[in-house]
Amino acid sequence: MDSNEEYEVKDLTLAEQGRKNIELAELHMGALFEIKKRFEIEKPLEGIRIGMALHVTKETANLIRTLIAGGAEVAITGCNPLSTQDDVAAALADENVKVWAYKGESTEDYYRYLNNVINFKPHITIDDGCDLVTEIHLKHQDLIPEIIAGCEETTTGIIRLHAMEKDNALKYPIIAVNDNKTKHLLDNYYGTGQSTLDGIIRSSNILFSGKTVVVVGYGSCGKGVSLRAKGLGSNVVVTEVNNFRALQAKMDGFRVMPMEEAAKKGDIFITVTGNKHVLREEHFRSMKDGVLLANSGHFDIEIDAKKLEEISSEKRNIRPFLDEFIVDGKKIFLAGEGRLINLAAAEGHPSEVMSTSFCGQVLACEYAVKNKELNRKSVVQLPEEIDDEIARLQLRALNVKIDSLTDEQIKYLNSWQEGT
Ligand code: ADE
Repeated sequence: MDSNEEYEVKDLTLAEQGRKNIELAELHMGALFEIKKRFEIEKPLEGIRIGMALHVTKETANLIRTLIAGGAEVAITGCNPLSTQDDVAAALADENVKVWAYKGESTEDYYRYLNNVINFKPHITIDDGCDLVTEIHLKHQDLIPEIIAGCEETTTGIIRLHAMEKDNALKYPIIAVNDNKTKHLLDNYYGTGQSTLDGIIRSSNILFSGKTVVVVGYGSCGKGVSLRAKGLGSNVVVTEVNNFRALQAKMDGFRVMPMEEAAKKGDIFITVTGNKHVLREEHFRSMKDGVLLANSGHFDIEIDAKKLEEISSEKRNIRPFLDEFIVDGKKIFLAGEGRLINLAAAEGHPSEVMSTSFCGQVLACEYAVKNKELNRKSVVQLPEEIDDEIARLQLRALNVKIDSLTDEQIKYLNSWQEGT
């Protein structure tokens, strides 16, 4: 480990590789790059300290460079023990960003690093999973008066935040960046769709064609995973607890059934629910020999991996990010220890989708600085116009042009008298 007061990373000599990867990502993050150029001139974040717990990836490095271009000071730690790209962390340390992260972090280091970010006394927090907000609310309430706002990146974090809001526990405003259309309808759908399969394939090299793939949860992530698995020739089965989503899955052409049934049919199981123990002992015991389980939800609680280990007669590691368990004489393979497979075994979402997600983060920071009167007890959304501006910027970066409304059409859309 290489460390001083400002950073702790695996190996500083990886910095050159990290810089190349960050540059490669930047090429595909056109909208974010546009905002970076504006920030360099306008400096909307001058004097603002931003503390982040995000996956330390080449895309996140471009987010950090944009915030710094806007005048902010940044400190970052990872938000998952297996998701840090060590070359990127080294490059950030080399650029004098405060960074504490390495791939394969112990729980102790995870929380020590989270506290390093908190000790940086951020004015704005950016979370992916709500761990910073939770830690601050539980143990560092003295910092709260100086905190302008927080930004949350993922559905799991939003679920926790709404629980805080309901309990009247939330003490500074949170911008639900996840809820931007340019985030959850793009990143969760196209990003998770591709990167989840990428992670499973890298960990096991399994063939999807002809396999029965059980997708657990049919939110934006589940929809993306189902579509991509179908595209690779899999027979997709969806399990859900929500009537409307189950109906959507059915109408999208997938088989829908309870897990009790699906457990017996699946070859590959992918959890994307944000909920706990959606695959558990009763399911493990009824699975076929040789099945593969993977999770792409934020936390490692969707598959009850502890129980899997407890009930197995043998466990062995087959290769990086692939363990084999023997349960009732049958093999069950678990990818990435049940941690989010797209970042554990692959590189997370491709840069193109992270571009619009992270435009949401930087514009949320700017919005928070300009709108200090946000309700401190609630989770708020960015105005629709900001979401639209992100889509416009990314279309422009992709050199895609669209039509605009004629005056006659604008008038028609604003009137009610015209009918049949
Ligand atoms: N979440 C999913 N993919 C990611 C990526 N590439 N960078 C940061 N956060 C992510």
